[in-house]
Amino acid sequence: IAKLERYRPTLHFAPKQNWMNDPNGLVFFKGEYHLFFQHNPNDSVWGPMHWGHAVSKDLIKWEELDIALYPDELGTIFSGSAVVDWHNTTGFFPEEPGLVAIFTHHLEDEDHTPPVQTQSLAYSHDKGRTWVKYNGNPVLSHPTKVDFRDPKVFWHQPSQKWVMVLATGQTISIYSSPNLKEWEFESEFGENIGSHDGVWECPDLFELSIENSNEKRWVLIVSIGDNPKFEVGSRTQYFVGSFDGSTFVAENGDIRWLDFGKDNYAGVSFSDIPKEDGRRIYLGWMSNWRYANEVPTEGWRSQMTLPRELTLRETNGGTHIVQKVVRELDEYFTIKKEVKDLSVGIKNSNNYEMNAEYAEVELILENIDACRYGLTIHHTATQSTTITIDAGEKLLFVDRKESGNVDFSSNFSQTQKIKLEGTKRNHLRVIVDSSSLELFMNDGEKALTSLLYPDQACASISLFATEGQVNVIHGKFSIPSNE
Ligand code: FRU
Repeated sequence: IAKLERYRPTLHFAPKQNWMNDPNGLVFFKGEYHLFFQHNPNDSVWGPMHWGHAVSKDLIKWEELDIALYPDELGTIFSGSAVVDWHNTTGFFPEEPGLVAIFTHHLEDEDHTPPVQTQSLAYSHDKGRTWVKYNGNPVLSHPTKVDFRDPKVFWHQPSQKWVMVLATGQTISIYSSPNLKEWEFESEFGENIGSHDGVWECPDLFELSIENSNEKRWVLIVSIGDNPKFEVGSRTQYFVGSFDGSTFVAENGDIRWLDFGKDNYAGVSFSDIPKEDGRRIYLGWMSNWRYANEVPTEGWRSQMTLPRELTLRETNGGTHIVQKVVRELDEYFTIKKEVKDLSVGIKNSNNYEMNAEYAEVELILENIDACRYGLTIHHTATQSTTITIDAGEKLLFVDRKESGNVDFSSNFSQTQKIKLEGTKRNHLRVIVDSSSLELFMNDGEKALTSLLYPDQACASISLFATEGQVNVIHGKFSIPSNE
């Protein structure tokens, strides 16, 4: 057991058994967060897709429930979303509101090459425990498009209708509906903008507030599939702009990445978070199609990122997504060591014992005159991951070459990088679990999400600076709280 479970995360959702990919149907209803997920219950590699299911009260501790959706004569169950039909627009809920899942049916067999992708509905009267497939499925199909999948649906208040964003090749198509059953085409986005390094998948569209202002913008998130022509594998881009219920217009011309690590894909946000809460909470699949099927876990494969609250911030002349791990995580940590005004240099690097099954470090660093500085996470005496800021190159690197098991893919050892605007003063927050590291810079302005396969999560953390000094204005080292 110990060996099989060695990499199982404590703070992140992972399936009990077998394969998982994208988060699906993220929705809050009656006090529970629901996480459905792409699941192959018969093997620990990708295969015929089902929707697995888990629920949580605090977004961190998840309880896995029975499989929610099984393949049927229309195909296997690809990615999609879920909403609460508060006003019974569907007619499925004459008594009281319930959940509707909107997902892709993927049909692939001798008679269906290329495969056929259509959108379908299922509904639940018992808080997602059991589901009925709508007898009018599919509700949306296309005569020619082969890539026609991953519906994300939300209620658009101003126009009083449901809006669906759908991945359609290398564009996003927008549809609308009064009742989730009849859909009308509105517009298509993406022809001449953004990265087209791979097929577009798993879109999400929502409005976000700009921090410290009364302004809002619409944000479109688009995952880009793995393309062997490029080194990085799969990743996620986003656009900031406006949406009038029919058309999305981007105001940024540059390509924007949601994450600078290799392991955050197919992420989308929760539906129906109560107004009093008001957060936009995002969750991604913490893997990369380049090596997802080969990562060295046994019996189970893949985990989700930590849930993150999204906002917008005006930085460097543009409006950018900011991501912060939800505050619910704070409960899971207790401070082990705090330091203030500490000088780190060649002669006095510092090592902090952690010996923890998960750990967190927060650092406000001011560079005095160092060329390179940063921190090393020592998983064991011989396995470590290093985060280095190179002042000259204005880059932050995460190096996982020595982090443990890396041999399963040549791509895994490549250095992950963030381009920095300034290197004088930086705020870093790093959360390490059994088999991952999530780095947030400058209060969520940049994120870097990375899998790791060490024998143990975190033995100690050390700080370093080369050819000069760095001042640790504030450092905080945290370990599991004993609840
Ligand atoms: C993204 C994706 C989706 C699809 C699902 C199939 O990772 O390729 O486009 O619906 O995975 O499992």
